[in-house]
Amino acid sequence: MKSPIILGIESSCDDTSAAVIQGSTILSNVIASQKVHQKYGGVVPELASRAHQQNIVPVIQTAISEAKIRQKDLDAIAYTIGPGLLGSLLVGSSFAKSLAIALDVPLIEVNHMQAHIFAHFIQDANDEAPEFPFLCLTVSGGHTQVVLLKSYTDLEVIGETRDDAAGEAFDKIGKIMGLKYPAGPEIDRLAKEGNPNAFKFTKPKVDGYDFSFSGLKTGVMNFLNQQQQKNPNFIQENLNDLCASVQHTITDMCLEKLYLAAEDLGIKSLALAGGVSANSELRLKLNLKTEEGYKVFIPKFEYTTDNAAMIAIVGKIKYENEQFGELTSKSQARFKL
Ligand code: KG4
Ligand code: ZN
Repeated sequence: MKSPIILGIESSCDDTSAAVIQGSTILSNVIASQKVHQKYGGVVPELASRAHQQNIVPVIQTAISEAKIRQKDLDAIAYTIGPGLLGSLLVGSSFAKSLAIALDVPLIEVNHMQAHIFAHFIQDANDEAPEFPFLCLTVSGGHTQVVLLKSYTDLEVIGETRDDAAGEAFDKIGKIMGLKYPAGPEIDRLAKEGNPNAFKFTKPKVDGYDFSFSGLKTGVMNFLNQQQQKNPNFIQENLNDLCASVQHTITDMCLEKLYLAAEDLGIKSLALAGGVSANSELRLKLNLKTEEGYKVFIPKFEYTTDNAAMIAIVGKIKYENEQFGELTSKSQARFKL
């Protein structure tokens, strides 16, 4: 039997993306990133919805033509139902529903956070896909979670942030230091030239596998204010060391909880997912765990930040299990795993 061909549509935040998958192989993965938010230092929801509306038709047309298929070859349409910005989600869901009606194919609803994790099951995401059970640290601009996966359908969030997400911490601290949104990749770049032990920032004590990043943001802000009173050029003169120290602290805070859960539960397979998993220090540190007998799964760079390939792979798995969506389903700004 021919493997199903599925179109994935992602529009939850500030990237409009469409991908075509056949079986577990990605035939195309097109992403239009919205530059309009940079000057505001964060995503402006109203502008994001408008940009999605401009981008969605050309992005989908490009994904279909790059995949070298015809529209009528599609067996199903998978789209992000949540979590995310409501106006942005509505653009993707309305388009997905209309296309499903026009082509008379099933619709598949995809949870964006599940998709970040399931990106590992895309054929060329890793050398090999993780085997169940495994633990996944999902770190993005909106979420920070430790997820225990026992099967494709048995996912349990065992730890999460009580305030800011890890990506949000990178972005907000970067903004205080005068970096453009999103600051995560820029901090990563500048940190390569800095000393991670130049400045020590206090890490909060949070019970269990939960996280908290807002105290770190306040701590860095207070420290910078004090230093700038003595030297107004403190940030510019120490930018690389500041970035390296902040990155060192955030990555340690994320990994400490993942390792604690792994020890407690006796799980030897660890995976990373979400936009912040593009971070070079996080990838490097987690890779070192292989020396302690752990199996480590880090997805290919292009499947870490928001993309529709990860929506399409969930589409494929749900299609095989006949988990189809409804034309009347509502997009969900908050949507649990
Ligand atoms: O998963 P994602 O693309 O979007 C959300 O669903 O939130 O994650 C975006 C987040 C942003 O906060 C961005 O600063 C962060 O991922 N990010 C990074 C890096 N690349 C993206 N953070 C640290 N280092 C990076 N290299
Ligand atoms: Zn995301």
